[in-house]
Amino acid sequence: MSDLTGKRVLVVGGSSGIGLATAQAAAKLGAGVVVASRSQDKLDAAVAAIGPGSQGRVLDTTSDAAVEAFFADGAAYDHVVISAAQTKVAAVRELPLADAQASMDSKFWGAYRIARAAPIRDGGSLTFVTGVLAIRPRKGAAIQGAINAGLEALAQGLALELAPVRVNTVSPGLVETPLYDRMAAEARQAMYERAAATLPAGLVGQPEHIAAQILALITNPYATGSIVYIHGGSALV
Ligand SMILES: NC(=O)c1ccc[n+]([C@@H]2O[C@H](COP(=O)([O-])OP(=O)(O)OC[C@H]3O[C@@H](n4cnc5c(N)ncnc54)[C@H](OP(=O)(O)O)[C@@H]3O)[C@@H](O)[C@H]2O)c1
Repeated sequence: MSDLTGKRVLVVGGSSGIGLATAQAAAKLGAGVVVASRSQDKLDAAVAAIGPGSQGRVLDTTSDAAVEAFFADGAAYDHVVISAAQTKVAAVRELPLADAQASMDSKFWGAYRIARAAPIRDGGSLTFVTGVLAIRPRKGAAIQGAINAGLEALAQGLALELAPVRVNTVSPGLVETPLYDRMAAEARQAMYERAAATLPAGLVGQPEHIAAQILALITNPYATGSIVYIHGGSALV
């Protein structure tokens, strides 16, 4: 994979899970990495895990003002990755409307705000992290599928609007991350075991599997407008 020495990479949502693995992979390729998220504690731990040359900056992507202030110094990035999201998922008729709107605000509008404000150098890239529910709906998760599908359409439009900046999407299936820390440990383990037993890939996705694909898109100058599915085959079964 290409060298990222001298490149500046911002990972929004880089303090945990897929974002953290992406930040670590970019740093290994020589990039100067900035990770952004809401929690200073998580950022401190992430910077320690990523290593020297990395920086953590507090940002809540649900705030218009915070996103604008974050980029106010005008410093440009070569690559921006957005994996930040906090969504509540339940059946449409069960999920309170305010929770559905907050989910959309976090994942869709959060990414939109960053896409609108982030200075990205020509030839650089913007990458969204969506999710396989956009193409493989599941009962009780229609809102998440709609958010992901909206982001994928946005990314393809942005590939035209932001060129020569390249805009791509990576769509994961189930990935073992702190996203599931809120579940009871036994239920979480059962979910992972069920997935490993039924997925064609025969295993549960790890953050590094998704990070590898994000890095592949970042470093491929011909990749733009792409939606790449990394779901262990879950859209097929
Ligand atoms: N894990 C899966 O199975 C899976 C499957 C398909 C798609 N995805 C998608 O992949 C992306 C990353 O998920 P993950 O599993 O890596 O989750 P995660 O481990 O919970 O990480 C989410 C990251 O986003 C940050 N974040 C949340 N809300 C934010 C906000 N408003 N502003 C700024 N940062 C915010 C969190 O840090 P703070 O708490 O410090 O803000 C954290 O760094 C999400 O878009 C998720 O929907 C995940």
